[in-house]
Amino acid sequence: MRYPTLILTLCLPAAFSQATFQRSAKRGLVFVPNPSYSSDNQIWISSGSDLTWYYNYGAEPSPVYSSAEAQSAFEFVPMLWGLSNDSFVDQVTTLIQGGTNITHVLTFNEPDGSSANGGSDIPPETAATAWIKEVEPLRKLGVKTGAPAVTGSPGGFTWLQEFFANCTNQGTNCTADFMTVHWYGDFQGLASQLGQVSAAYPNKTIWVSEYAYNNQSLSTSQDFFNTSTEYMDRMSNIERYAYFGSFRSSDSNVGPNAAMLTQDGKLTDIGSWYLGGAATNNVPNAAGRSWGRWDVGRGAWVTMAVVWVGMWLM
Ligand SMILES: *[C@@H]1O[C@H](CO)[C@@H](O)[C@H](O)[C@H]1NC(C)=O
Ligand SMILES: *[C@@H]1O[C@H](CO)[C@@H](O)[C@H](O)[C@H]1NC(C)=O
Ligand SMILES: *[C@@H]1O[C@H](CO)[C@@H](O)[C@H](O)[C@H]1NC(C)=O
Ligand SMILES: *[C@@H]1O[C@H](CO)[C@@H](O)[C@H](O)[C@H]1NC(C)=O
Ligand SMILES: *[C@@H]1O[C@H](CO)[C@@H](O)[C@H](O)[C@H]1NC(C)=O
Ligand SMILES: *[C@@H]1O[C@H](CO)[C@@H](O)[C@H](O)[C@H]1NC(C)=O
Ligand SMILES: *[C@@H]1O[C@H](CO)[C@@H](O)[C@H](O)[C@H]1NC(C)=O
Repeated sequence: MRYPTLILTLCLPAAFSQATFQRSAKRGLVFVPNPSYSSDNQIWISSGSDLTWYYNYGAEPSPVYSSAEAQSAFEFVPMLWGLSNDSFVDQVTTLIQGGTNITHVLTFNEPDGSSANGGSDIPPETAATAWIKEVEPLRKLGVKTGAPAVTGSPGGFTWLQEFFANCTNQGTNCTADFMTVHWYGDFQGLASQLGQVSAAYPNKTIWVSEYAYNNQSLSTSQDFFNTSTEYMDRMSNIERYAYFGSFRSSDSNVGPNAAMLTQDGKLTDIGSWYLGGAATNNVPNAAGRSWGRWDVGRGAWVTMAVVWVGMWLM
């Protein structure tokens, strides 16, 4: 009786491990929850997932992941999304005092992008004032700060330059511990963007906190995913990255083939590879709710709304 059991135990892991994607401690989750399908939230922390950190565009952990124990296994990274009447430094300090080990924060989601396109649309000098008040003090607590997460457009570089200049004008050198990159496009474009950021901000590590090749065929999406992910795993200056995204293909605003879940909430190949697993052969499609006539930007705005509603509900 022991013999067949032994065969099974020896053969099954070998058969699966052959096709699994490389694992990486850099990988994290941009959490874009769907309030209608809360069971989807558990997929990212399911057994075998190699995701070690997440952010949710907000300053507070998502209740589904918020137990203190989870922070060491699945680290929450607060984000100052845009201008707010809530004090970010107070919110983060309260988390730390409550025993949540906050080591990094992210700041300003696409401040160079218009709100119609999902950006936080903040003039650099206003962001500088907010950073000096709400972010710089966190560095004294040993928290590492991410530079504003500008878009991948050339305007992002201009915005950042003005931001840092405006800080100095206001009497404080805003110090980012790492740069933050968003990229939607092909691999050559991503590699070039990373090179330009390294050239403009030498010696800074980089987090790629949103990336995908939007609106492509399945094979092009998968090829981009493999190439870019392997590249970022190899590059020692890339500290962390988060693929966009963690939603169903039917809810995707970047095309169905970029999504990590199918319209039925099953991991796609990309989704499973991102967690360090094997291909699932689950093919995503856009069926379900149709977002057809909306552009990527409008969709991103709606995604943000879904995130906020999701955070409230969970
Ligand atoms: C802050 O509060 C004021 C007064 O309620 C409101 O007018 C303003 O829009 C708020 N600002 C933000 C960024 O929420
Ligand atoms: C907080 O997390 C960092 C990074 O994972 C770790 O080095 C540090 O020991 C942790 N601190 C506490 C108090 O657990
Ligand atoms: C912000 O910095 C830019 C670039 O140095 C400069 O042109 C602009 O006048 C500054 N704005 C303010 C309000 O200081
Ligand atoms: C800001 O950095 C510049 C250049 O490194 C330095 O000369 C200046 O003293 C710094 N300003 C402040 C307020 O620390
Ligand atoms: C980058 O780091 C190297 C080695 O530590 C140092 O020699 C160089 O001056 C740094 N460059 C900048 C722009 O800080
Ligand atoms: C992507 O990587 C997976 C896992 O290594 C592999 O099975 C698949 O063929 C690759 N696909 C492409 C398009 O490179
Ligand atoms: C990209 O895909 C989304 C969602 O499938 C769609 O709404 C949008 O129109 C597409 N954008 C372009 C530029 O094709």
